[in-house]
Amino acid sequence: MPVRTRLLPNAVHRATTSVTLLTPSTPPLEPPAASPLQWVTWRGLRFLLKRDDLSAPYPGNKGRKLAGLVPSLAGCPALVSHGGAQSNAMLALARLARHHALVLHYHTRPLPRWLRAQPNGNLAEALALGMQLVEGPTPQRSAQQAAERMGARLVPQGAAMAEAEVGLAQLAHELQAQLAAFGERQASLLLPSGTGATALYLQRHLAWPVYTLPCVGTADYLRRQWHALAPEGPFPHILDAAKPAPFGRPRAASLAVWRDACAATGVTFDLLYDPIALTALLAHGATLPQPLIYLHCGGVEGNETMLARYRREGILEH
Ligand SMILES: Cc1ncc(COP(=O)(O)O)c(C=O)c1O
Repeated sequence: MPVRTRLLPNAVHRATTSVTLLTPSTPPLEPPAASPLQWVTWRGLRFLLKRDDLSAPYPGNKGRKLAGLVPSLAGCPALVSHGGAQSNAMLALARLARHHALVLHYHTRPLPRWLRAQPNGNLAEALALGMQLVEGPTPQRSAQQAAERMGARLVPQGAAMAEAEVGLAQLAHELQAQLAAFGERQASLLLPSGTGATALYLQRHLAWPVYTLPCVGTADYLRRQWHALAPEGPFPHILDAAKPAPFGRPRAASLAVWRDACAATGVTFDLLYDPIALTALLAHGATLPQPLIYLHCGGVEGNETMLARYRREGILEH
């Protein structure tokens, strides 16, 4: 029986720890199957696309980042994390928690009234998986306090943690093996960064360069993240260190590049991070070491709510 989730208006919701254990209904994180690596051409640029949006059993870099948590979950009373109310990492954690019959207590800022009244997208799916939502003004601090109180496992925002290296090292080895099958030993890799954990841990296990773009904060934020996670490096290369537009704000240019890439390749990209990296791919792709691999990090499950934002802001008509 799923855990009942209550959303209390503008209140920090103290979730109960005495919950019904959930019947596992989502697949385990191990062993991950190799996701496809395929040639695509877009606007005259030929590159390899790593379809990690198709990685099984949990798609994208979230599944990769969480794989290393699994061994520590036995005996763990609950998971606690924090971040945005439509986060892709939140949904991946909710799936992981569900599979391991754990409750995820997820701390976020107070929801807009309309979203609380009618949760949609990743939030609706995570709540349906039994996630307990805790709203409050300081989600990071309240998550830390809750984890201490419950003796629960605290998962940092976006799963930017040392354990993320396990699954990303595996992805790096997978890429290397697939590249060899294409008759190549060297390449370069391009992907967008939020916390920067995915780019960093891939760079640590690849002998060729990883290029990335800061999407959430500045280039300095990204470097600070990397130094905090692995001060010894080696670090990825930052393309376009200009301060990014406010994260997630709908922009006509982002929608245009996203639509164009989706139409040309037949692949659905993520509408939050990918437009930034795809724009850089067009600008720099031809000058980066070849062959160039673009890493599709998944996240397409968040597109529905992004498209709704585009409609609300009048950038998309229907
Ligand atoms: C689609 C997508 N691309 C890129 C990223 C950035 O990953 P990271 O936070 O590890 O930099 C994320 C976040 O996990 C994501 O959901």
